[in-house]
Amino acid sequence: MLISFEGIDGSGKSTQARRLYEHLIKAGYNASLYRDPGSTELAEKIRELILSSQMDATTELFLFESARSHLVWYRVFPDLKEGKIVILDRFIDSTTAYQGYGREINLGTVSILNHIAIRGKKPDITFLLNVKLETALNRIKGKRTRFEDLDYLRKVRDAYLLIAHENKDRIVVIDAEVSEEEVFQEVLRVLRNKGLRV
Ligand code: TMP
Repeated sequence: MLISFEGIDGSGKSTQARRLYEHLIKAGYNASLYRDPGSTELAEKIRELILSSQMDATTELFLFESARSHLVWYRVFPDLKEGKIVILDRFIDSTTAYQGYGREINLGTVSILNHIAIRGKKPDITFLLNVKLETALNRIKGKRTRFEDLDYLRKVRDAYLLIAHENKDRIVVIDAEVSEEEVFQEVLRVLRNKGLRV
């Protein structure tokens, strides 16, 4: 099973992805947790490049997809083959939201590159943690983030909701304005509905 967490910077998705991972391990599942971009030596280098450089949108798109391709090929696929539950902190929807809608790259192009990078293997379920812009900004205060431009983040936030609306079979929107514990309980409830014993 492949599970991804999505949301704007400051939505709390990394915290929830980690909590789910720890919960699954405690429950006796074989699971892994990866961040995209990152989680292989090469992908971490690409991540560092992306986060530390200014670049045009197309170059950035290719770097995100390269990092993803490496992660999928060397970590995600082998793990799934072993029967593990794989949790991803960000995945394809980030690129659609940030590069497609945010940086206005043609959505068809983004979709094709996403498809190539993941070799067609979409997540079984995606949690979109939805917070107000103000909440997210408060949470990321003082932290290093790539996108502090307000209009940009607003575009990405709106885009995520649109993407969720268009992928109702896969993406579950979770209100992440509530406490961390309440968000986590909601994640578990959705997974139980999917037949996972957690
Ligand atoms: P993270 O800090 O949540 O791991 O993400 C790093 C930054 O990269 C974050 O601001 C979102 C951005 N990003 C994209 O713009 N496109 C992508 O495809 C991914 C995966 C992340």
